[in-house]
Amino acid sequence: MSALIQIRGLTKTYGEGANAVHALEHVDLDINAGEVTMLMGPSGSGKTTLLSIMGGILSATKGSVQIAGREVVGMKPKALSKLRLQEIGFVFQGFNLFPALSVQENVEIGLELQGIRDRGAAAKLLEQVGLADKLRAKPADLSGGQKQRVAIARALAGNPPIVLADEPTAALDSTSGKLVIELLSGLAREQGRAVVVVTHDPRVLPYARRIIHIADGRIESEKEAA
Ligand SMILES: Nc1ncnc2c1ncn2[C@@H]1O[C@H](COP(=O)(O)OP(=O)(O)O)[C@@H](O)[C@H]1O
Ligand SMILES: [Mg+2]
Repeated sequence: MSALIQIRGLTKTYGEGANAVHALEHVDLDINAGEVTMLMGPSGSGKTTLLSIMGGILSATKGSVQIAGREVVGMKPKALSKLRLQEIGFVFQGFNLFPALSVQENVEIGLELQGIRDRGAAAKLLEQVGLADKLRAKPADLSGGQKQRVAIARALAGNPPIVLADEPTAALDSTSGKLVIELLSGLAREQGRAVVVVTHDPRVLPYARRIIHIADGRIESEKEAA
């Protein structure tokens, strides 16, 4: 099976000359459908940089990055933006919901970006994440775990084959963290998506198919779960 994301010889340098920061060096990595891949490593090791490059929201300095079979290094911004919209769902540590909008409206924003105007689509996505009874609630009325589940529902608008999550459980207590990681894990195991989770949280490790450790911008080790 071919990888949904294939990275070869990836280098990312921020800035130039004396100010250059070598955030990633010589990274090779395949991300497969149907698997949860966890990226771990100390703060500043390059995890967010790597996830952003995987999602086509940050450009590589050197190397090759293929997303869903297409080389994105050197791709024109418009084509990249279209590929991103079709292939990737993003989930962030801080949820990034609009506080003035209802839960349903927050998901509709994701659907509108996809050109989907079906009135029932947001409700269906929210049902998938167990929030069918919260459509009219505002983010402030929800727990952290519920907010993250809204963000996951929004990320699934457009049915992306790849879901990228940056520290999705970092702001959550352990019960909500577990629900969120179970949900993300189901997106891989039951729905066949490729799910990549950047995490510091040892509680989520049992849900990983692969665990990749990054240190100083390099892949230090790669373990497959039994
Ligand atoms: N926009 C930026 N400009 C300059 N340096 C950056 C930028 N973003 C990240 N860095 C640096 O790149 C390195 C990796 O950062 P990051 O990918 O955010 O690591 P992590 O997510 O593992 O904490 C760090 O040294 C960080 O300071
Ligand atoms: Mg980070």
